Amino acid sequence: MVAPAARILIVDDHRAVREELAFALDYEGWQTLEAADGPAGLAAVEQHPDIDLVLLDVKLPGLDGLEVLDRIRQLRADLPVVMISGHGDLETAVLAVRKGAYDFLQKPFTNDRVVLSIRNALANSRLTSENRDLRKALQDEQQLLGDSDAIGQVRGMVDKVAATDVTVLITGENGTGKELIARQLHDKSARATGPFVALNCAAIPADLVESELFGHEKGAFTGAVQARAGAFEQADRGTLFLDEVGDMPLPMQAKLLRVLQDRVVQRLGGTRTAAVDVRLLAATNQDLQAMVEAKTFREDLYYRLHVVRVHLPPLRERHGDVPVLATHFLTQACRRNRLPTRKLTSKALGWLAAQPWPGNVRQLKNVLEGAAILAEGGEVDVADLQGVGVAAPSGQGAGGTDWFAFERLEDFRAATEKEFLRRKLIENQGNIKRTAERIELQRSNLYKKLDRYDLK
Ligand SMILES: Nc1ncnc2c1ncn2[C@@H]1O[C@H](COP(=O)(O)OP(=O)(O)OP(=O)(O)O)[C@@H](O)[C@H]1O
Ligand SMILES: [Mg+2]
Repeated sequence: MVAPAARILIVDDHRAVREELAFALDYEGWQTLEAADGPAGLAAVEQHPDIDLVLLDVKLPGLDGLEVLDRIRQLRADLPVVMISGHGDLETAVLAVRKGAYDFLQKPFTNDRVVLSIRNALANSRLTSENRDLRKALQDEQQLLGDSDAIGQVRGMVDKVAATDVTVLITGENGTGKELIARQLHDKSARATGPFVALNCAAIPADLVESELFGHEKGAFTGAVQARAGAFEQADRGTLFLDEVGDMPLPMQAKLLRVLQDRVVQRLGGTRTAAVDVRLLAATNQDLQAMVEAKTFREDLYYRLHVVRVHLPPLRERHGDVPVLATHFLTQACRRNRLPTRKLTSKALGWLAAQPWPGNVRQLKNVLEGAAILAEGGEVDVADLQGVGVAAPSGQGAGGTDWFAFERLEDFRAATEKEFLRRKLIENQGNIKRTAERIELQRSNLYKKLDRYDLK
């Protein structure tokens, strides 16, 4: 995409100066607007929000240049202004720059000098605004949204423990926001200016876990061509986030425990020990307690990690959060993809809230990203969401059953009921009591149906 030509406003009371400048700027491919005095210049700034820069004469009849500068900065603090003055007016120059002018050109100046100054000012202002957009996007990414009691409690917990150095175990299914919480805990702590190092234990081959955690010296093992600091050393004075900690191999669990007790690490193949000042956060989507009972997770490590626990319930248990999340993700996706803002219809919101979301918030986010791009027009409706392919699209059951192939209503009803119950059972991990409660059916009744559909 070609960036639109920059628009530059020239404010000078001498027509010949304006014309000469306009000619030079036009030659550079910039668009120009002209104003002969302060009030006309200010009116132009108000009327044309797409002006990118102002060239402003210091000596203007009536409202003088420095006053105009002040008012421009009130109207649009981000608009770069380059001042032009007559000979030998250094004091004014200093004053103007102090008031926020980007540069100061003293007459007589060459066209090259003007062009250079404008080019720098435009580049600088583009960087500033990109920076602001990025920061805003980052803040948007890191917000914890949701009005449910569950999220309210999580928020309260985060506020309570963030400032401390306590170890926090964050639990929840895939895509429920565990990493988001870990980042918040870090960002709200005194360690926020220090590093945040995330290590996904499930993503590292078992034989590399140790060197990833504690680092290695050169030649410690085949392939260790260079010495390398491990995650603990990298996170010194910051936070170490051990993601999927349930996947850590048992022998490593013992080593991790030792480091947590002694707060010193030794690199693989090394002899020196280094003290580390690290706050530990851990996350898992597994049931660590059950793993402890099954002896696949060390009990002593479990208690070390489980000082405070923050649990993120699956999205299907907090349907009330879906509308605010969905709306936010859609707006974000439109902005990120430079699309016009689109809105979810109320039907679409209802449909979204009724989906089981096995992939939780991440899945919801992906669906809205897809819908933002695929939808046409200003509204996103159920069909647009289904087009992205969440759960089962309309008319299709599991395994591609075509619901409309049934002749008799009774057969259709039995097939959909069976599929509904099958899905609800999966959502509730096969727990019949819970399933019955959720779908508001008597348990005995559910048993009967499961028998009939051969679902047990
Ligand atoms: N309550 C929330 N408000 C806003 N965004 C959220 C919320 N929960 C999750 N997200 C977003 O959803 C996505 C998935 O979250 P995150 O990566 O933190 O989940 P996770 O639990 O670590 O998932 P996994 O177990 O798969 O690693 C991220 O983009 C995150 O910003
Ligand atoms: Mg994660």
